Amino acid sequence: MAATSAFYVLFLIAATFFPSTASLLQIQQADCTGRRIYIRQLPPRFNTDLLANCSAYPLFTESFCPYTANHGLGLKTHNRSQSWYRTDHLLLELLFHRRMLEYPCLSSDPSAADAIFLPYYSALDALKYLYGPEVNSSYNHGLDLHSFLRSDQPHIWSRRSGHDHFLVMARPAWDFSQPLSNDPPIWGTSFLELPEFLNVTALTFESRPWPWQEQAIPYPTSFHPPNLPLLDAWVRRVSSSKRTVLSLFAGGGGISASPNIRRSIRIECENTSSSDLHPYSKLCEVVDCSNGVCEHDPIRYMKPMLQSAFCFQPPGDTPTRRSTFDSILAGCIPVFFEDQSARSQYTWHFPEEEFGAFSVFIPKENVVYGELKIMDVLMAIPSWKVRKMRQKVVEIMPRIIYRSHRSSPGLKSKKDALDIAVEMTLKRIKARVEEVSAE
Ligand SMILES: *[C@@H]1O[C@H](CO)[C@@H](O)[C@H](O)[C@H]1NC(C)=O
Ligand SMILES: *[C@@H]1O[C@H](CO)[C@@H](O)[C@H](O)[C@H]1NC(C)=O
Ligand SMILES: *[C@@H]1O[C@H](CO)[C@@H](O)[C@H](O)[C@H]1NC(C)=O
Ligand SMILES: *[C@@H]1O[C@H](CO)[C@@H](O)[C@H](O)[C@H]1NC(C)=O
Ligand SMILES: *[C@@H]1O[C@H](CO)[C@@H](O)[C@H](O)[C@H]1NC(C)=O
Repeated sequence: MAATSAFYVLFLIAATFFPSTASLLQIQQADCTGRRIYIRQLPPRFNTDLLANCSAYPLFTESFCPYTANHGLGLKTHNRSQSWYRTDHLLLELLFHRRMLEYPCLSSDPSAADAIFLPYYSALDALKYLYGPEVNSSYNHGLDLHSFLRSDQPHIWSRRSGHDHFLVMARPAWDFSQPLSNDPPIWGTSFLELPEFLNVTALTFESRPWPWQEQAIPYPTSFHPPNLPLLDAWVRRVSSSKRTVLSLFAGGGGISASPNIRRSIRIECENTSSSDLHPYSKLCEVVDCSNGVCEHDPIRYMKPMLQSAFCFQPPGDTPTRRSTFDSILAGCIPVFFEDQSARSQYTWHFPEEEFGAFSVFIPKENVVYGELKIMDVLMAIPSWKVRKMRQKVVEIMPRIIYRSHRSSPGLKSKKDALDIAVEMTLKRIKARVEEVSAE
């Protein structure tokens, strides 16, 4: 609200002294039609108190406190770094909240808003159920929030029965999809199974195929530039980087004896010799990220990714992985083994018709149970096509990064992952509200 009133003061000053600026601002105001968002005020137990408890969970060996720095970007990788942070994706809820505070069409009146943002740190609140003492009452996750929404200014919720509400859940939806009938629970909370929240749009890292209200948005990478020159410099570095390795797998797993795609990649990779395929000196490389060693140390995998043409994105515990976005950031063409890993997930950020232009698809069954060799598929792609695909990767890169809060106006003029998520959420809510009111 402070931001909104500051805007009006600015607007009045500008309107009085600089008529041309004033008309510009009027144009910007007009652009808010259909885009007004009200940020629901929540008691601190639903967000900031959860940050204060950052050392209470046995996560990341000690605590997640360092990752709350810089409004969820984490600590800088080096003191003099301007764009690189040790970002943990669990903190996207905080990062998203901070960015929403500078959203240009905030409304201070919920009844004039097109959508209501719930700044609830749901994945952080879920920790006590996932790893903590309340594991056996995980069906409670969300009930406290719902009763707050129904009792405090109840008209905000009831105006559209929650259909205009949205929130961010910084984990795969599976972690919130425990059937209410599981007693004791096996894994996850039941937030997304509660009838109370079935009308709310949930932005997750991985959605289940059927619920309409779940939508996957990109995992944050470690790159959060504050201005356009820094983004452009990175794009130039990525475009001119010498790629001497044909393919790279940065990850863990694949060491079990049972057949799976990670194991197939590892075996094939370890069995490749040096390459006589120009311009590569190596056909395949593995960066071992077992035990989470890469997670907060982007240098470990960004450097090899910058030197590789293709980056493998095999499913792990679930089909999606953050590494997909790291590889796009590095201009390394992602290789997918199932549609659930990205194609059917990030439909807002990767236009369906362009998907094949920046990625390779190799069905995992043909590799694990068939005779198909991954290297044969990649080596058969002509080098002009590899270059073209990489250009496309670099072209979509700005759409998957989360820029820093307080970015320069120049960078703000380019839509990043969050801008696209918000724009598409507004569209979906509009369609949903129209559908429901027509019933
Ligand atoms: C923070 O941790 C304390 C002690 O474990 C607990 O009593 C409190 O409910 C927690 N606060 C939140 C908001 O989870
Ligand atoms: C980086 O900054 C921290 C905190 O300001 C300081 O303690 C540390 O000495 C600095 N490191 C270098 C290499 O300048
Ligand atoms: C949860 O329930 C299971 C099975 O009833 C029990 O073994 C376990 O100790 C319970 N955990 C906690 C933290 O209460
Ligand atoms: C969800 O929407 C339906 C249809 O508009 C409505 O009947 C129902 O009460 C809503 N659920 C909640 C929990 O508000
Ligand atoms: C390794 O490669 C050689 C020659 O290409 C092949 O004969 C052999 O079967 C491969 N080994 C494994 C474990 O795939």
